[in-house]
Amino acid sequence: MAAGSFQILLFVSLLFGFLFHATRQNEAGYMNSTRRPNFIIILADDIGWGDLGGNQQRISHTPHLDLMAQQGKRLTDFHSPASTCSPSRAALLTGRHGLRNGVTHNFAVGSVGGLPLSETTLAELLHQNGYYTAMIGKWHLGHNGPYSPTNRGFDYYLGIPYSNDMGCTDLPGYDLPSCPPCDPGPQIRHNRLKRADHRSCYSKVALPLIENTTIVEQPLDLWRLTQQYTSTALDVLAKARKRRQPFLLYMALAHMHVPLSPSSHVPVSDTPNPSEGGVYAASLREMDRLVGAIKNASDASDKDNTLIWFTGDNGPWEQKCQYAGSVGPFLGTWQTSRGGGSAKRTTWEGGHRVPTVVYWPGRVPANSTSSALLSGLDIFPTLLSMAGVRPLPDRRYDGIDATDVLLHGKETGHEFLFHPNSGAAGRFGDLQTVRLGQHKAFYITGGAEACDGSTGKQELHDPPLIFDLSREEDEETPLDPNTAEYRKVEEKARMGREALLYDIATDQSISTANYAIDQSAGPCCNPTHRCCRCTVPG
Ligand SMILES: *[C@@H]1O[C@H](CO)[C@@H](O)[C@H](O)[C@H]1NC(C)=O
Ligand SMILES: *[C@@H]1O[C@H](CO)[C@@H](O)[C@H](O)[C@H]1NC(C)=O
Ligand SMILES: *[C@@H]1O[C@H](CO)[C@@H](O)[C@H](O)[C@H]1NC(C)=O
Ligand SMILES: *[C@@H]1O[C@H](CO)[C@@H](O)[C@H](O)[C@H]1NC(C)=O
Repeated sequence: MAAGSFQILLFVSLLFGFLFHATRQNEAGYMNSTRRPNFIIILADDIGWGDLGGNQQRISHTPHLDLMAQQGKRLTDFHSPASTCSPSRAALLTGRHGLRNGVTHNFAVGSVGGLPLSETTLAELLHQNGYYTAMIGKWHLGHNGPYSPTNRGFDYYLGIPYSNDMGCTDLPGYDLPSCPPCDPGPQIRHNRLKRADHRSCYSKVALPLIENTTIVEQPLDLWRLTQQYTSTALDVLAKARKRRQPFLLYMALAHMHVPLSPSSHVPVSDTPNPSEGGVYAASLREMDRLVGAIKNASDASDKDNTLIWFTGDNGPWEQKCQYAGSVGPFLGTWQTSRGGGSAKRTTWEGGHRVPTVVYWPGRVPANSTSSALLSGLDIFPTLLSMAGVRPLPDRRYDGIDATDVLLHGKETGHEFLFHPNSGAAGRFGDLQTVRLGQHKAFYITGGAEACDGSTGKQELHDPPLIFDLSREEDEETPLDPNTAEYRKVEEKARMGREALLYDIATDQSISTANYAIDQSAGPCCNPTHRCCRCTVPG
């Protein structure tokens, strides 16, 4: 090739590169074309709206998060997409309700499948568009083969593939009932198992810690987990800084899910004392320090270009009593006065209104709050929009782009926000409840197991129960159906619900999850050992 034509070619390709770049910048508008933002999503487990100091006027156990809110924005009407783990996480990563992405209830230790492979995750889209993607913590969207995090868009993974109570450990954390340690061997087995109350304790497979797709510890040490997550997160951030590539860090904490294992409360014996007070608060402070450490590291590396989004996967697990978080004022009194809990697994406010803080120095206005009606469903479209990445056009989404709320002080949230059933009543995934403005309509109610052991049975409501949250946050007294206010809200709610159901029924990309269970599908380091232990304790 002659030198002249090479120069022309070079010029043409540079021009092309420039045009491509310019288009990309225009699409996102606010975005700096040379540097795409980094994203850190911190998802707490089973945290209560009232656990965030800044949400409640009382003693705060979350000074680092409170500071982050002072330097960023607190979202006070932000909801998890579902009120249990797997559906909430699936919706966060796909921007779609469980009725579309197929994940309507939790996966088990022996689950063969996971989030359907026909779904595309936020991590996959960011990865395909040049992001480095890392995940630390609880996945709970399938742990076998193609369902594991490193096969769903993450370059790196370290964590527990499901909940921290879905396996035994040698030194159990605080839980109710307290669970026995892993089976150490035939000699001492008999005595230990006798001591413990086994109901609701998983004991067959020890809790694994997985790095990428390899089991690196089984059972893992719960009491060292926070330290391990912290140092891994700091390592990811340090490497990202050197790599000079935009990144997504999805940090799905084990906090505040039982068993709690705050390092300040390591039990002296191997049988924790469940009556010891202050364990939840100590665990909350530990979580807060972890968030503070991540914020510090992020500030030190790429402060002006990193969005941190802290939120929760669902409300507190009330049946765990003193080891459960606080719903704040969202008591769900209509339900609790009839028996049953009104937090995790329910569509009462306590089930899905979660403490949420966004922080991006210079971009998210400092010391601001927003009461826009938002959801974890919105994380997917919002981050993609900020990164200048288009979601796949072949499917429908339920999340909205909340960039204007986060960065520009707008209050435009969802017109309708639907809350799916996550286990307390009726069919999984059913759209039980709809929020519109300050009102909330229940077509189905039901309570989860409460601390006192009561459960609320499923009740169908036709016409629906409608509450006005601006009058009472605790959902105690429904509106009188004979009022004009009721009739107006009821009609609007019915139309919104029918429109969504029609939209889902005509969505060409509906996925179905495989919930089959096969005991051999559990992660197992050593199948010849009773609890899959990697090594016998010394
Ligand atoms: C983009 O970022 C660079 C480096 O931070 C900065 O110098 C430049 O002014 C930014 N451009 C725009 C349009 O914001
Ligand atoms: C996980 O992947 C990273 C690279 O992304 C690698 O450095 C690390 O050694 C891997 N860990 C395991 C246990 O395979
Ligand atoms: C974060 O940094 C500040 C100031 O450098 C320091 O006071 C604080 O202890 C650090 N917090 C954590 C959790 O590392
Ligand atoms: C944050 O805002 C609140 C209420 O608007 C105000 O009372 C407080 O002084 C502000 N704090 C800071 C650090 O600016």
